[in-house]
Amino acid sequence: MKEHYINQLKTGEEIIDFFLIKEIAVKTGSNKKQYLDLRLADCSGELFAKKWDISDEEMKGLSKYHVGDIIKVKALVNEWNNAHQLKISKIRHSGPEDSLDNNDYYKAAPEDPNEMYAFILARAEKIVDKDFNAVSVKLLRDNMDKLLYYPAASRNHHAEYAGLLWHMKRMLMMADRYCEVYTILDSDLLACGVIIHDIEKLREMNADENGVVSEYSFEGILLGHLVQGAAAMRGIAAELGLSEEKTIMLEHMVISHHYEPEFGSPRRPMFPEAEALHYLDMVDTKMFIMEDALAGAAPGGFSDRIRTIDGRQIYKRTW
Ligand SMILES: [Fe+2]
Ligand SMILES: [Fe+2]
Repeated sequence: MKEHYINQLKTGEEIIDFFLIKEIAVKTGSNKKQYLDLRLADCSGELFAKKWDISDEEMKGLSKYHVGDIIKVKALVNEWNNAHQLKISKIRHSGPEDSLDNNDYYKAAPEDPNEMYAFILARAEKIVDKDFNAVSVKLLRDNMDKLLYYPAASRNHHAEYAGLLWHMKRMLMMADRYCEVYTILDSDLLACGVIIHDIEKLREMNADENGVVSEYSFEGILLGHLVQGAAAMRGIAAELGLSEEKTIMLEHMVISHHYEPEFGSPRRPMFPEAEALHYLDMVDTKMFIMEDALAGAAPGGFSDRIRTIDGRQIYKRTW
């Protein structure tokens, strides 16, 4: 039975509880001693944890712990860089005798994956331009199995069960609103851009059926979802007989959606739909991060510092 959810931990508290392993590594400290560095999660959030000074005997047992395992730890809740961190004294695997409820450990998008998928597919089918319609519908159909559980990231934003669908759905909803206001935008091209922009995350990262990412794939590390996405687009566009103009515009939307070269984009957006796509992506990411941060904050108080938004703390209003 889980008793302590991550977003409710208090500094100084001693806990014995279960957590999901999101990252695990043995590192060497400045004192030359080895320690275990973990990122742990439950349905309410994530935090870092350390087990200091591992003995040689303990080292031998560590290979049995993997990303995706649920472990039981005895630990002290510390504070580090304005965030909670666990100092673990004991660690063991969970077993059937612990009768754990999976819903306590795996964070999931708030809507049913099948319903989100149906919403997105229905929007794709409404695309009037037959080429953008065909590309969008094909990508969704070909990738349906993975889309139903894949996260959109290994951490930071939408790192949850069916998080990629949740990201796509809200971006599509916003995209249609943008098009009502900015009539220069082609809604078919923008909707297609939303559907393709992160689709290669399905092959950039390896995730299990609970939406937990174990690692980046070989091509994910060497290429990344922008380059993978452009290559996939080229193949699909050729198969469906798209013009060169449409093919290259779709590829450009994929490669420019991170905007800055240091975030992986070799070109900044060079037409309005590509520019809008970037901002849709940003807005959805930031709103997700803020919503997530506020889930653990008390009304009238602040969240922990959030590294991904420049260390800002987010204020939770009282009403
Ligand atoms: Fe992306
Ligand atoms: Fe995205």
